[in-house]
Amino acid sequence: MSYQTLLFELRDGIAVVTINRPDKLNALNDAVIADLDRAVTRIEGDEAIKGVLLTGAGPKAFVAGADIAELSTQNQMSGKARAMRGQAVFRRLERCGKPVVAAVNGFALGGGCELAMACHLRVASETARFGQPEVKLGIGPGYGGTVRLPRLVGKGRALDLLLTARMVGAEEALQMGLANRVVPADRLMEEAEQLLRTILANGPLAVRLCIEAVDAGLEMSMDEALLLEANHFGLLASTEDMREGMGAFLEKRAASFHGR
Ligand code: COA
Repeated sequence: MSYQTLLFELRDGIAVVTINRPDKLNALNDAVIADLDRAVTRIEGDEAIKGVLLTGAGPKAFVAGADIAELSTQNQMSGKARAMRGQAVFRRLERCGKPVVAAVNGFALGGGCELAMACHLRVASETARFGQPEVKLGIGPGYGGTVRLPRLVGKGRALDLLLTARMVGAEEALQMGLANRVVPADRLMEEAEQLLRTILANGPLAVRLCIEAVDAGLEMSMDEALLLEANHFGLLASTEDMREGMGAFLEKRAASFHGR
């Protein structure tokens, strides 16, 4: 499958997806959103893909936002449709069933910050800068910024970023919980891949259900979320992975999981 605006490389079980419009700082135009949609379809369906690394091409930007040139001509209905299309693609990525790590290599602004937040974990290079500058343009976030940012960093910090439009560097992003790790720029891809490989060494069904439980559980009452967790705990007890994981511990060897 070929893409107009993405590079898609399968590297030993990891899909490395690179948003590739470096001359426009990888801004998300309609073509990128359509390509991302197709990439997610492949990620969901291809059993050879165990996890995903998402990054931006070039040294400057992860993604510097939605494409302002395209946004500038939208009207009420096309603006809403654009937001809903992007939201749906990001949501599918978030729920693709495989761990997704963002390697944030520079500006992650607006839609770029929103895309990074739709990933399960964010590794930031020391040069990364995060922000939701939409209000400067007289709009608000359209790809989940008002929804995921407060869930990640809390209401007060989210409103600080959303209302001031200020950018935060990697260290501040780390302190507020927006970034999970900060690493030197020249080690970004290695460190992000290492983090993903650490996750992939664990039971894939267990990892998948952890993501599902956190995603769904945050929207539930405490009792519903605890019940979901108990159901997952029971479900995983029926898997070969559980027998392998516990057997390996008892036999003092490394586990080898098959996702069954
Ligand atoms: N949409 C469309 N084009 C964008 C873009 C965006 N979100 N962000 C950057 N670009 C383009 C610029 O227009 C420029 O294109 P040109 O060379 O054809 O003029 C190119 O990418 C390089 O950007 P430039 O602004 O020259 O780089 P810079 O280093 O001076 O500034 C930023 C970097 C990120 C601070 C600046 O590009 C910026 O503020 N971008 C918009 C961020 C934003 O508001 N995002 C939210 C959108 S909803």
